Amino acid sequence: MPNSYIAGLGHYIPERKVTNKDLETMMETTDEWIVERTGINSRYWADLEKDSTSNMGTRAALKALENADLKPEDVDFIIFCTLSPDYNFPGGGVLVQEQLNIDTIGALDIRNQCSGFLYGISVADQFIKSGMYKTVLVIGSEIHSSGLDKTTRGRNVAVIFGDGAGAAVLRATDKPDKGILSTHLHSQGKFAEELMVIEPSSISIHRTDNIPERIYPVMNGSNVFKHAVTRFPEVIMEALNKNGYTPSDINLLIPHQANLRISQFIQKTMKLRDDQVYNNIVTYGNTTAASVPIALSEAWQKGLVKEGDLICLAAFGSGFTWASALIRW
Ligand code: UT7
Repeated sequence: MPNSYIAGLGHYIPERKVTNKDLETMMETTDEWIVERTGINSRYWADLEKDSTSNMGTRAALKALENADLKPEDVDFIIFCTLSPDYNFPGGGVLVQEQLNIDTIGALDIRNQCSGFLYGISVADQFIKSGMYKTVLVIGSEIHSSGLDKTTRGRNVAVIFGDGAGAAVLRATDKPDKGILSTHLHSQGKFAEELMVIEPSSISIHRTDNIPERIYPVMNGSNVFKHAVTRFPEVIMEALNKNGYTPSDINLLIPHQANLRISQFIQKTMKLRDDQVYNNIVTYGNTTAASVPIALSEAWQKGLVKEGDLICLAAFGSGFTWASALIRW
């Protein structure tokens, strides 16, 4: 049975930097509050004249392909992960297929919010292990900025989220000890309404009423925080136990960038050193499905992900959904 490994990574960040001070001009908030509660200094917002969730994903994918020394025509299958697609339907996967000018390969969309990219990696890994595909493109891309309530009413959500895209190319290898060792996926739908956007929705009788609580994301922040700090260590330990490792064996943990306080909590609980955990939420904010691939791509670019390293990816978010992946690089 072949194994799958990550052959290339890429990310794309839109140009417009939005600082906490910029947000102070839009809503009642302060740089101090945002830094203290979330660790975020800035985030980037897309320019809708030229950026879309799909084309940012395509730009990240082209970089990942280039870094893998591959061409779009080498890709056998596309997995596109987002909570902010260009259209309600069809999904972004088919748009990426067209933008990359690839022949009629399959494209799958995954809607698992902050855990989306890890669910995507897991699906790609199974396709490769089963022998169905040899090269799978997994993309996480988000534009939050056009869908946030940027008034004081929406400040607990609006200050956290940012836009961006990241991509990974997974390929088959015959080496049994290289690549994705295992993936672990979970969900708990009883908390679906703790972090959600309702509209546009097939169950809605209010489709045209533009009610703020329905068209903007709403979040019970403290409850999401409470579950995140339990589920992250749990799912990371699940991956380590499955493969006979302990936290001290991890070379780099890349947690979904939900909130710097959450990452610090995980680090403390798992007794990890600073150099074992990668964070970039300070600069980019929380980019949900794009956060893990952006962070992984950036860490790789900086030389922090090296051949032979044990890399752990983990995520938690709306659904609730959570997941992990352990990789021997
Ligand atoms: O991506 C995965 C899913 N998301 C997460 O993992 C996020 C998890 N949750 C969090 O990160 C935190 O709950 C937040 C950062 C969202 C909020 O922090 P908190 O410490 O839970 O604050 P809170 O919502 O309990 O609000 C505390 C106070 C409230 O005022 P009162 O009622 O105490 O007077 C809020 O109105 O802070 C107020 N507040 C703000 N003040 C200034 C809420 N948002 C803001 C803001 N600026 N942006």
